[in-house]
Amino acid sequence: MSDSASHSKELLLAIESSCDETAAAVIDSNRRILSSVISTQHELHERFGGVVPEIASRAHVERILPVIDETLRQAGVTLQQIGAVAVATQPGLVGSLLVGLTAAKTLACVLDVPLLAIDHIAAHLYACRIAAGRDVFPAVGLVVSGGHSNLYDCASPVDFELLGSTIDDAAGEAFDKVAQILGLGYPGGPLIEQAARDGDPAAIPFPRAFLNEDRLEFSFSGLKTAVKYAAHGTPGARALPPELTPRRIADLAASFQTAVVDVLVGKTEQALRQTGRARLLVGGGVAANAVLRGRLEDMATRRRIELHIAARELCTDNAAMGALGWELWERGRFSPLDLDVTPGLVRKRSSASS
Ligand code: KG4
Ligand code: ZN
Repeated sequence: MSDSASHSKELLLAIESSCDETAAAVIDSNRRILSSVISTQHELHERFGGVVPEIASRAHVERILPVIDETLRQAGVTLQQIGAVAVATQPGLVGSLLVGLTAAKTLACVLDVPLLAIDHIAAHLYACRIAAGRDVFPAVGLVVSGGHSNLYDCASPVDFELLGSTIDDAAGEAFDKVAQILGLGYPGGPLIEQAARDGDPAAIPFPRAFLNEDRLEFSFSGLKTAVKYAAHGTPGARALPPELTPRRIADLAASFQTAVVDVLVGKTEQALRQTGRARLLVGGGVAANAVLRGRLEDMATRRRIELHIAARELCTDNAAMGALGWELWERGRFSPLDLDVTPGLVRKRSSASS
């Protein structure tokens, strides 16, 4: 048994299955992660270039119990030491969410402990709290993942107001689609980032939607199409595009990446101005991107903003960020056992409890 576990019987078990990662973690009241196990399904979805919902939920069914067992084993704790069970119930793929929720409900019922409903998006931002080791709210929050590109005004860890989101593709989705266009593979983010290292970010002037408009919305679909045309030619055009050599792929990747980063940083700056907040939290898979992290750091220094970006290993989906469950537990925001999932984005107030 680990030291911390022997000191505390009050441990949180967090479960995450909203998309294509099956994950569980054990977290103590200081938000220390005693264990965090992630079983990724990337290999199952790779050949489709994106997540196939039916395949995802079937894989969750097979993996959820072994993942929970393994996280308890790694933490050196037994189920009897678990004082509450937190589970991501929104947003995400309906079948995937249901698998995690069913496991969590069963455990909460059998152990007779509280059930806590986690908003996956709020949890992505709460990942910043874990590294900081202290309260990081209120703040503006930027969540950039495979499914979402959202800006929030976060009054507290459990009280979010959506300021703006994407009107079409999410930032991570654009990375994934562009990687497919360039023949790089899936998931696209890390592969684009790698290819872009040898490229010129100014080689192709891709569009930056809404960048100079006074609205907190994103659009990445036009950018994706622009990359497609630059790579494979514009329909109806006589001129052929330059040959898709490794050099050209690197230039396209770098030019695309910098266009996305320009927009994300520009809109985040607008949100900071609009809200007057002096603190910024950034989470979600795309926040693992080194160019985005660097540019956000520059902006924060320039604007004298306190910046917290989730640790790289906590950017992509994981259950450790379900440490957010402690905020619900401490506030007594328990959920009933007939709790259901909410697959879509909660547009107005994204409360971290239901
Ligand atoms: O947060 P996440 O694991 O899942 C969702 O909640 O959607 O985010 C996954 C997304 C994928 O689209 C992936 O391509 C992107 O995050 N991603 C990145 C990087 N690492 C992962 N995008 C850009 N640069 C990266 N280094
Ligand atoms: Zn996510």
